[in-house]
This record gives sequence, C-alpha cells and structure tokens, in this order.
Amino acid sequence: MPPDLLSIISHSDQQTLEIGKRLGKICQKGTVFSLRGPLGSGKTILAKGIALSLGITEPVTSPTFTIIQEYNGIYPLFHIDLYRLDNPEEFELLGGEELLFNETVTIIEWSEIIDSLLPDSTISINISIEKNQDRRIVIQGVSI
Ligand SMILES: Nc1ncnc2c1ncn2[C@@H]1O[C@H](COP(=O)(O)OP(=O)(O)O)[C@@H](O)[C@H]1O
Ligand SMILES: [Mg+2]
Repeated sequence: MPPDLLSIISHSDQQTLEIGKRLGKICQKGTVFSLRGPLGSGKTILAKGIALSLGITEPVTSPTFTIIQEYNGIYPLFHIDLYRLDNPEEFELLGGEELLFNETVTIIEWSEIIDSLLPDSTISINISIEKNQDRRIVIQGVSI
C-alpha cells in the first residue's frame, strides 16, 4: 500500500461518524472530499461527521434529489450527491465545477462521473462493505 493510503475498519455507524469528525478537523478553505462506495456503505454518515466538526448541527442527509446542498459552518460546506447525474456536463450546468476551486469545503458522493474535473488535492475516500458488514474506509491524500 502506498504510504499516503490509510485503511481503517469501522464496526459501527458511530465509528464511521467519528472518522468523519477527524476528517472534518483537518479541513481548510478549498478542501474537497470525494466519497465512493456502494449504496448504504456509509458515505452520508461520514459526511455528517465532517459537518459536525465544521460546527454544523442541522441534519445532514443524502442530497440525492437536490444534488447540491449548502450548509453554513466554520467554512461554507457544499454536500453534493451525483448518484442521479447522467454526465459531467450536467454538473457543469449546475455550477458544480466552480465549487471545486473556491474557498468552500466540498464533499462529493458518487464522484466517479466527474473524476477528471477533481482538483489534484482532492482527498479520496473509498468505503467498502466487508462480509461481516464492517466498513473498510480507505483514505488517500491526507493523514488523520
Ligand atoms: N460501520 C458502519 N458505518 C457506516 N454505516 C453503517 C455501518 N454499519 C452499518 N451501517 C449502516 O449503513 C447505512 C449507511 O447509510 P448512508 O451513510 O446513508 O450510506 P450511503 O450514503 O453510502 O448510501 C446506515 O443505515 C447505517 O446504519
Ligand atoms: Mg448517501
């Protein structure tokens, strides 16, 4: 495994939330997180943890239908869910690309479709579901 890859096993929602909180603490202006993993793997719970560390207490839910949800915290947070997007052009039409290169914190679920648009500094997080239902969370681009 390359040295900048961190692999963590989470046994519960609460542990995933805690990992999210740790990620939230290292946020700076312009931090972009790409969250990948199957439906129900815990992407939104992780996003909730990040939001909590940014001082956001309102409920964070999957913005599957709204696509882009904005929250006001220590930094403005944009939580994006691209599950329903058909092509990268749609993302550009929504003004998404501007969010990737400004001073907000951005979390993107199902970011695969816009892979080529992501900044080099993006923190990539891959969640997989183990046979025993634990979650394996692999983080690339930062140590927490
Ligand atoms: N270790 C774990 N970490 C995160 N979620 C877990 C874990 N074990 C079970 N779950 C369940 O998996 C689901 C994850 O939901 P959610 O965060 O909305 O997933 P996603 O956004 O990836 O579709 C929740 O129902 C949660 O209770
Ligand atoms: Mg989700």
